[in-house]
Amino acid sequence: MDAAALASDAIARIREAGDTSQLEALRVELLGRKAPLTLALRELGTLPAEERSARGAVLNEARKAIEAALSQRRELLERQELDSRLAADALDVTLPAPAPPRGYAHVLQQTERDVVDVFIGLGFQVAEGPEIELAELNFDALNTSPTHPSRQRTDTYYVTDDVILRTQTSPVQAREMARRPPPLYIVCPGRVYRRETVDATHGALFTQVEGLAVDRGLTLAHLKGVLLAWAQAMFGPDREVRLRPHFFPFTEPSVEADVSCFNCARDGSPCRVCRGEGWIEVLGAGMVDPNVLAHAGGEYAEPGISGFAWGMGVERIAMLRHGITDLRLFWENDLRFLEQFG
Ligand code: DAH
Repeated sequence: MDAAALASDAIARIREAGDTSQLEALRVELLGRKAPLTLALRELGTLPAEERSARGAVLNEARKAIEAALSQRRELLERQELDSRLAADALDVTLPAPAPPRGYAHVLQQTERDVVDVFIGLGFQVAEGPEIELAELNFDALNTSPTHPSRQRTDTYYVTDDVILRTQTSPVQAREMARRPPPLYIVCPGRVYRRETVDATHGALFTQVEGLAVDRGLTLAHLKGVLLAWAQAMFGPDREVRLRPHFFPFTEPSVEADVSCFNCARDGSPCRVCRGEGWIEVLGAGMVDPNVLAHAGGEYAEPGISGFAWGMGVERIAMLRHGITDLRLFWENDLRFLEQFG
């Protein structure tokens, strides 16, 4: 066996080894117990003494050369394998993390905000009042007679004889008029309470947006213009507004305001929103009753001062806009319902 040829052939093969397991197989083949070189080394002892040392030197040199080539190659392959493992396992800490879920306004809050925003755009200011209110401001200041049925304990939640859960946002009118002189242009969103049997269209707790304008020379035409601008902003630019005579204690004349249907051709054919009427009732309104202005007193009671007011239910507006048929859904906090408005 030509040890030098064997070594150079082995070294060439070592350089070709593609990975550490190939290299290990090669090591066993070249230097293992059954490798030609190993067997040759083992046979040294059988050689005559004069040949032994020369032969031994040649074989050992071949062995060392192979060992050196093996360890060099192993080092290189191990480094490459480590590099590629690191590249594969790499964690990019600059990747954006999944966004945490964000909350959003409840559909009633969204609707209230949209309603109020339109009036803010028309120059009205937001005013708020307490939900626990003086009966005097909820009723007397608003020209509601002492015998009016809405005062009954079957209709109104009483805290004491004089203090109630407000049944409407209208008492904020009285509070604001007591606070500052006219001109006054306010919208008053808030919760109100009534002793109602809860069903698809009645809640014992609901939300209103009140409006009040008091100034010199205001007329029903101003009221209609404001309501028209609001209706077109909320329900589309083609909407019309119709006023129908009605009664409220605090306005004279009083009206109910209808918006032309946004859901149908208004030709009398069946419509789930207006029921073929072509008009949808959306709020109560009127010219502020002189008795209410007199109760406010001061500049409010001066000749030439007049006002208009309105009040609407936010739940009703939200139901109309989104085609919701049961008001209880607003309060049940079922995420399957609420998430549709996220
Ligand atoms: N407060 C009335 C209600 O709860 C709504 C209302 C009607 C308010 C006419 C007004 C108004 O300011 O002028 O039914």
